[in-house]
Amino acid sequence: MTVPGPGSGGGGGDAGSGPPDIAVVGSINLDLSLDVERFPDPGETVLGLGVARGGGGKGANQAVAAARLGRSVALVGRVGDDGDGHLLRHALEAEGLDLTGVGTADDPTGLAVIEVDPSGENRIVVVPGANAAVTVEQLDRAGPAIDGAAVVLAQLEIPVEVVEALAIRPNRRGRLVLNPAPARPVSLAGVDVIVPNRTELALLAGGEPAVTVDEVVDQLRSLPEPPAEAVVTLGGDGAVVVTGLAGAERRVEEVPAQPVEVVDTTGAGDAFCGGLADALCLGADLVAAANWAGRVAALAVTRHGAWSALPHRSDLLH
Ligand code: RIB
Repeated sequence: MTVPGPGSGGGGGDAGSGPPDIAVVGSINLDLSLDVERFPDPGETVLGLGVARGGGGKGANQAVAAARLGRSVALVGRVGDDGDGHLLRHALEAEGLDLTGVGTADDPTGLAVIEVDPSGENRIVVVPGANAAVTVEQLDRAGPAIDGAAVVLAQLEIPVEVVEALAIRPNRRGRLVLNPAPARPVSLAGVDVIVPNRTELALLAGGEPAVTVDEVVDQLRSLPEPPAEAVVTLGGDGAVVVTGLAGAERRVEEVPAQPVEVVDTTGAGDAFCGGLADALCLGADLVAAANWAGRVAALAVTRHGAWSALPHRSDLLH
């Protein structure tokens, strides 16, 4: 498939002059990533094979992903006034992100402890820390960036009421894309595009994770306030794109997965969301955007870590 829109070297667009292409409201974490031969059973201790510290957090991951694809990105969130917070701030600045909306909290910077097994599968525990102190008032202070952006991305690692307030902002110009991760109950009022995986969709719809595409569509239709559009990510099975969800013109398209050698799936969904937002900004339709997002995520899972795995646009242009 073709790369949507004009290519750019990546590393962030023109942050600071007018509204950004993309505003991301979400979490910022320090990731402690442990390689394990296998996941420990309850009560068991296993010896780790290695450890790495790196930037993470679903919000920051998605923001960095989009910036590396060449988009200008403003991030709204919080870090602690501690060493990890200062480190992450500097690293995000170096990515070219507009951090005007990133506040400091009394709580420590968010921390994620991640176990990764040899198949690349992961288990994650997040201690939200400063992410739990993100407020609705921060949205108002970042209003021009949020309301002027072409795409607004959110996830659920910050207080749900902040995400719900974001979705119903009256002056928002761009599409609100919600990645409902980690899975938590949330109102979908005002959400334009939802990007859940099977588990997250099942929690929102109330049921078991869907197996077939028909079950995916049924669960989407059963949502209390179904958004107009959805991209359901299916890991190694690709994704399902559904448009016209609420009306009679419903269209369902399957997007195949890219065959790759998986090393670490940490942040795969975030790479996907960053790629999706990038393509939507450049005018791609949702199916083309999901194809592009799948390519971004496929490359990310061939590398270790979260930020450290996210590709630049130039990595994808061959
Ligand atoms: O989606 C992956 C992310 O989840 C990690 O970077 C970790 O910080 C948690 O937020």
